[in-house]
Amino acid sequence: MTIAYASGKAILFGEHAVVYGRPAIAVPITEVQAQATVENAQQAQGIRIVAQDLHRDYLLRDAPPDDPLCFTVINTLRHIGQPLTQDLIITVQSTIPIACGLGSGAAVATAIVRALAQHFGHRLEANVVSSIVFETEKLHHGTPSGIDNTVIAFEQPVYFVREQTLEAFRVSRPFLLAIADTGIASPTKIAVGDVRRAWQADPAKYEEIFDEIGTLTVMARQAIESGAIEVLGQLMDANQRLLRLLKVSSPELESLITAAKQGGALGAKLSGGGRGGNMIALVTPQTKDRVSMMLRLAGARSVITTEVH
Ligand code: MEV
Repeated sequence: MTIAYASGKAILFGEHAVVYGRPAIAVPITEVQAQATVENAQQAQGIRIVAQDLHRDYLLRDAPPDDPLCFTVINTLRHIGQPLTQDLIITVQSTIPIACGLGSGAAVATAIVRALAQHFGHRLEANVVSSIVFETEKLHHGTPSGIDNTVIAFEQPVYFVREQTLEAFRVSRPFLLAIADTGIASPTKIAVGDVRRAWQADPAKYEEIFDEIGTLTVMARQAIESGAIEVLGQLMDANQRLLRLLKVSSPELESLITAAKQGGALGAKLSGGGRGGNMIALVTPQTKDRVSMMLRLAGARSVITTEVH
C-alpha cells in the first residue's frame, strides 16, 4: 500500500484580486492534512474510490465525468502512462474542513496525484503535480487563479501571479498566525462568481479595488522579506477593508476579526474565498493564547496556531 499526504493552505494577501492577475501571498498549513492511499486489490473489480469523510465508496467507471476525485485519478494515470483498466482501491481522508478557505479540494487532489505517482514508481516535480491539480481546481471553482494548487504542491510560502513563473520568496523572520473557523461552509466558486458579476457590472470600480489589493500584497512581500511584522499586521487590516468592499466578508468573519483585534492581534482578515470559512490573525508568542481564547469566545469552531517560516 502506498500513502501520500498534502497540507492545507492559507492565503495571507490578495485573494480574489489574484483571479484578475494581481499578486497574492499564500502559505502551506501543515497542521491540517489530506491523505490518500493506493493499494492493488483484485476484489476492487476496477478502480474503487473510498472517500471516508464523505461516506462514499464507488467505482470510477460508475462516476460522472465531473467527479473531482475520479477526474484527478484519470488525469494522473494518463500522465504516468498507466491504464484505467486495473484493480485498485484509492482511499482518501482529510482533516481540512471542506469549503472553508483552507484548500481542501486542492489538498485532496494533490494527495491523490502523489500517492498514484509513488505507487507506480514515478517522481513528479512540484510543477507537474500543481498542473494536474489545477485541472481539478477548474471543476471546483470555475475560474481558479491556480494559487491553491501551487502553494500546496510546492509546500512553501509563495508570491503568486497567475500564469507567471513562481518567484523565490523568503520569510526572513518567522511569524505566528491564529487561524479561526467560522464553521460556515462557503464554496469558493460562489464567492468568486459573485465578485465576477459585480466586476462585470462596474469594471472600473472593481479594477481599482484589485489594484489597491495588489499594491498591499507587494508591500506585504517587502514586510515579510524584511521582517517588519508590525507593518504586516496593518497591511492585513487594510486588505480586509478592501475585501469588505468586494462584499466577501460576513458578520461571522467580522466578529472573529473584532475579537482577534481585541485580544491583541497585530492584524486580522478573512482568508480564501470568504463569506464563511476561515479568518487569520497575526499574533505573537505573547498574544497567541489570549487571541485564541477571544476567538473561541466569539464562536470560532476551531482555532489553529501555526508558524510561517
Ligand atoms: C481561493 O483560495 C482564493 C481565491 O482568490 C480564488 C482563486 O484564487 O482561485 C478566492
